[in-house]
Amino acid sequence: MLMEERFLLVNFKQYERSTLKQGEKLLEKFSEITVKGGAFVGYSLPAYDIRLAEKFRGMNILAQHVDPVPAGAFTGKISMDALTQLGIRGSLLNHSERRLDPEVIENTLRLAKEKGIRIFLCVENAEEAEKYSRMGASFISYEPPELIGGDVSVSTARPSVIRDVVRVCTAHGSKVLVGAGIKNERDVKRSIELGASGILVASGIVLSESPAEKLGEFIKAMLAE
Ligand code: G3P
Repeated sequence: MLMEERFLLVNFKQYERSTLKQGEKLLEKFSEITVKGGAFVGYSLPAYDIRLAEKFRGMNILAQHVDPVPAGAFTGKISMDALTQLGIRGSLLNHSERRLDPEVIENTLRLAKEKGIRIFLCVENAEEAEKYSRMGASFISYEPPELIGGDVSVSTARPSVIRDVVRVCTAHGSKVLVGAGIKNERDVKRSIELGASGILVASGIVLSESPAEKLGEFIKAMLAE
């Protein structure tokens, strides 16, 4: 049973200001933010930075990708067992910038369930949302690729798709997060009003002048709805 009702994922991507030393500094700033109960705030890091989970134990560090393999002879993969040993309990999967075959997704969802790793599965439209929620994904993250990194948010440009995604996912017991172009508190509130349980943000926080302040505002806006 999940205690959280709202989810905010900050995708660090691979910006200079959110990776390596700079990524660590950013996490330090984010660690000063108090997050009220009921909200899950996760930080999605590239593979070479996920060991920061050992330093930032109290924060929800996520991987940007995970492979459907345990520990063993799997060169170049990110194993589920490594995540578990680092105290990482979740990963993004199938992001528009890292798309996967349905078969790989199915295997990853299955192994992640066994290992207790929460998968935030990205989809690009309502059809994919239905397909993967039916497959058993607990979290569907809807991000229209054409809006990623821009200034027009998913909640402004695709309200009816968000409603459709929420409807099909709710029918299969999956929660919905939405992302792309989220830049202000209005975008956050609108996403929740449309039925989403949370949001994914990258540039709106990471590339803003005061990332920690921005994150604090977004958490507040998310919980206000
Ligand atoms: O995973 C979140 C990301 O793709 C959204 O990017 O820059 O539009 O917030 P952005």
